[in-house]
Amino acid sequence: MKYGYFDNQNREYVITRPDTPAPWTNYLGTEKFCTVISHNAGGYSFYNSPEYNRVTKFRPNGTFDRPGHYVYLRDDESGDYWSISWQPVAKSLEEANYEVRHGLSYSKFKCEYNDITATKTLFVPKGEDAEVWDVVIKNTSDKPRTISAFSFVEFSFSHIQSDNQNHQMSLYSAGTQYRDGVLEYDLYYNTNDFEGFYYLASTFDPDSFDGQRDSFLGAYRDEANPIAVEKGRCSNSAQTCYNHCGSLHKQFTLAPGEEVRFAYILGIGKGNGERLRNKYQDLANVDAAFQEIIEHWDSRCRKFQVTSPNQGLDTMINAWTLYQAETCVVWSRFASFIEVGGRTGLGYRDTAQDAISVPHSNPAMTRKRIVDLLRGQVKAGYGLHLFDPDWFDPEKADVEPSKSPTVVPTPSDDDKIHGIEDTCSDDHLWLIPTICNYVLESGESEFFNEVIPFADGGEATVYDHLKAALDFSAKYVGQTGICKGLRADWNDCLNLGGGESSMVSFLHYWALDEFIKLAKHLGNHQDVDHYTNMANGVQKACEEHLWDSEGGWYIRGLTKDGDKIGTAQQTEGRIHLESNTLAVLSGAVSAERGARAMDSVDEHLYSEYGLHLNAPSFSTPNDDIGFVTRVYQGVKENGAIFSHPNPWAWVAEAKLGRGDKAMKFYDALNPYNQNDNIEQRVTEPYSYVQFIMGRDHQDHGRANHPWLTGTAGWAYYAVTNFILGVSVDYDGLAINPCIPNDWPGFKVTREWRGATYNITVENPQSVSKGIASITVNGQPHEGSIPAAKQGSSIDVVVIMG
Ligand code: IFM
Repeated sequence: MKYGYFDNQNREYVITRPDTPAPWTNYLGTEKFCTVISHNAGGYSFYNSPEYNRVTKFRPNGTFDRPGHYVYLRDDESGDYWSISWQPVAKSLEEANYEVRHGLSYSKFKCEYNDITATKTLFVPKGEDAEVWDVVIKNTSDKPRTISAFSFVEFSFSHIQSDNQNHQMSLYSAGTQYRDGVLEYDLYYNTNDFEGFYYLASTFDPDSFDGQRDSFLGAYRDEANPIAVEKGRCSNSAQTCYNHCGSLHKQFTLAPGEEVRFAYILGIGKGNGERLRNKYQDLANVDAAFQEIIEHWDSRCRKFQVTSPNQGLDTMINAWTLYQAETCVVWSRFASFIEVGGRTGLGYRDTAQDAISVPHSNPAMTRKRIVDLLRGQVKAGYGLHLFDPDWFDPEKADVEPSKSPTVVPTPSDDDKIHGIEDTCSDDHLWLIPTICNYVLESGESEFFNEVIPFADGGEATVYDHLKAALDFSAKYVGQTGICKGLRADWNDCLNLGGGESSMVSFLHYWALDEFIKLAKHLGNHQDVDHYTNMANGVQKACEEHLWDSEGGWYIRGLTKDGDKIGTAQQTEGRIHLESNTLAVLSGAVSAERGARAMDSVDEHLYSEYGLHLNAPSFSTPNDDIGFVTRVYQGVKENGAIFSHPNPWAWVAEAKLGRGDKAMKFYDALNPYNQNDNIEQRVTEPYSYVQFIMGRDHQDHGRANHPWLTGTAGWAYYAVTNFILGVSVDYDGLAINPCIPNDWPGFKVTREWRGATYNITVENPQSVSKGIASITVNGQPHEGSIPAAKQGSSIDVVVIMG
């Protein structure tokens, strides 16, 4: 069953049936003001942090995605009313037509009902801390119509998200007031003019308004049948205390064929409501602001565009996967319909991995995240698993608490700097490939010399921060020389403590390999020698202790008592995805064993929805292995199709030169390919999810937790750099694809350091990997292509063979 389609021309997903089995979301905002909105206009806004500057309310985990950012319409002759989004009024789909276009940083809602066509486009203008609702209402009947429009948002109780649930004072600490087309909402214990001061404004002069939620909705009613809309007029409520909303009402009389256009503005900061109401009264300013959003994403997507025989891959790489990856880099794991603002801190490993994917499209944010992470690393080399970048930001630290309206807890250093018991064994290692990739992309080699403080005092150059990370993993090894598992590794639920993790040793090897290339490039010979020795030791330990010859795969690790985890002898948790994919991705293992291991992955972990994390699922609690053994079977880390490490398998296959396998695994996970199978998938087909129920669960194939997952960044990085094979190395732009052998070729346009490379790859001999020749602007060329002059356009033809 399908509910919509991809409109590639406009980079939109078009929902034609609003009764999807779950709300399908989008992210509005490219800077500090963000709205997470569903195709039924349910959702919430926040400024900078969903935990501390919560503008509108949302009830998570409900059967409805409510409340939201709604516009109601009312036929003032008949009293009939509806909403431009299907919810909350939910007219029968027999009598009303709804279409929703989720685009990159905007969502357009359209409703045709009762000879009225209405659209509402939500977006957050660049440079403004506000959301604009661009509304058009058209009378398509042959008689004059009198239509009332009402906005509705429910303001957050408090700017602190948790207060929304458990702080009764919130009921008495805020109020609304109405002034000239602006409903202002103020937390009155808060004297600040910005945070904690929200508003809803309109470009029209309202006929009535409501700032009190219960006056608008009425007792024992909800968003589906507000009393104000039923009556055709708000009650002009605005006062302190209780629950607050923003409803501005206006009646329009429209001649046949006539339309009216106006805007609502939801935002933050005293005075901004009035200013933006004036600004957007000239609707040309709304158009210009919307155009800026289009151009924002045009310029980012342009950095890498592909035309290949795989339409789903093109659609996702050219728009949606990049968009999702950027969303993760900016909003980390803070805000979705699952993560609704309970935490602000960055997850060390997630951020370090997200940041590998978008140095070309969002270098500033990539760099900022890298610096955040380096400040969150301690001298001993490990990263603080969960930390708030503000703790270590000298500019933020200077703000006197009394001047900051935001009540942000400031933990003591002891709380921030946890000990080894609480340290994750992988976090810090992801920094190395990510930082090298950033510098390769940007050319900012001097970044390695920048001095950045450690979280626990002292400072070092970026280069030395990386050495500290590598040295930490070399130090914390178990009996066999394999890295200790500590609190967890990439798998939060594998809690090995003093046991050993194959995954981390392979990751260590990958990080060492990337670092050695860097040290060679910088001419740091001593480091090359030292870390090459270290890498050789890691490789030896891996090959000696981790290969399970009976199964033909790499085990997942050892418990603290030395019992192997993930062998052919076991009946559950026999084979795991992370150790086998990273074994190959890292380059640590022989081609022969690598190929055998990936064949085992295909044989035991593959399903039509992607690769399972482990199989069979654990069913017997075993605390020496970890919490994973207590998770239900087929769910999350215990035998689900956990999306994030799936792209590691695509990279592994690409490194082995097996393009058909890489594409088989890619296609299985690609949400695009589930567009016609929504009854099984449930969630949106334009976003990767955290996990899909595995075959040991009755909902096998059901996707869960869309948007904020490391899958997006990894999917983008794996396809662009390893399958399509366009990457940057220390000599320039390197092209080394690994594709299915029935692909006749593909084209990529890649912008790199200000020049545009038009790359045509031809595959006349139907190979998967291998380069027969390269020409650059018609001239034969060997190896990587050095950076060209800014502004130039270079034609590259690659013949595979
Ligand atoms: O790797 C983790 C991630 O950091 C948070 N979500 C779950 C993943 C697997 O445990």
